[in-house]
Amino acid sequence: MRLIALVAASLLAAIAPLTTALAAAKPTVLITGANRGIGLELVRQYSARDWKIIATARDPAGATELQALAKVDPDITIEKLDVTDHAAVDALATKYKDQPIDVLLSNAAKTPRYMSAMKGAATIDYEEARNSFEINALGPAKLIADFLPHVQKSDQKKIAVISSKAGSFAESPKMSMMYEYRTSKAALNMIVYTLSYETAKKGVTIAAISPGSVDTKPVEGELGFGTNFKQPGVIPPAESVAGIIRVIDGLTPAQNGQFLDYKDGRVIPW
Ligand SMILES: NC(=O)c1ccc[n+]([C@@H]2O[C@H](COP(=O)([O-])OP(=O)(O)OC[C@H]3O[C@@H](n4cnc5c(N)ncnc54)[C@H](OP(=O)(O)O)[C@@H]3O)[C@@H](O)[C@H]2O)c1
Repeated sequence: MRLIALVAASLLAAIAPLTTALAAAKPTVLITGANRGIGLELVRQYSARDWKIIATARDPAGATELQALAKVDPDITIEKLDVTDHAAVDALATKYKDQPIDVLLSNAAKTPRYMSAMKGAATIDYEEARNSFEINALGPAKLIADFLPHVQKSDQKKIAVISSKAGSFAESPKMSMMYEYRTSKAALNMIVYTLSYETAKKGVTIAAISPGSVDTKPVEGELGFGTNFKQPGVIPPAESVAGIIRVIDGLTPAQNGQFLDYKDGRVIPW
């Protein structure tokens, strides 16, 4: 009996470094705005792929679906983060200073559910516009500036920034709408483009990605179209995220600083 215990113990000791090495070999992704919508689905799919996930949310206590995922996957760590709180971004970056991050995924945004979204310039909500710029453009800039060293020391060295065609001069709808959101995403695109000159020097690849039109809205008709309105071409989060991850998987340094479509990695003109 004692002999069996001894053999078992030495076997365990022999494979322990192997299991640790395997655990260490798991790539790590950090995802902002991970409590709902596309962010939550990103967590689901990276979890299914057995990645280590740092999932941030403004209100971890209220992030019940994210918590449920973390309960069954010990590789999901939930962190509190409002991307406009620069001291909090600094603190999180310091907390993870020794953690290589293979994919930094900036997803969080103020999305256009406010009532001025589909109206003209006379109804621009300037407070909303300022918030959108803080959250959608400056937030990702600060996040990337702080976490670039973590990405640089990883194996994959990728930064994916979820943007929107709404911020593209070439492909946004040819109509007056969403001044607040569109300008914030156009600013974000320029931030990605500008950052790419820094990332290139560090062996890191950064790309903006359009997720398509995704059904993440909890209530139809919130934008004032009435409850029967169905936006044409809208896809479920699972389809968008499968595409986003495919594009990130295939990301090469040649795509540094580009704006890519979730569907096939096509370059979207700015
Ligand atoms: N859905 C689409 O059709 C579509 C189309 C084009 C681009 N996108 C882009 O795709 C990304 C995800 O969109 P979505 O539809 O999933 O949006 P969503 O359902 O509105 O979710 C937005 C996420 O961002 C978080 N967030 C908002 N302000 C934040 C802040 N200051 N700090 C940290 N997190 C914050 C939200 O957290 P709270 O729950 O705390 O508010 C939430 O987790 C966004 O970048 C969006 O612009 C979406």
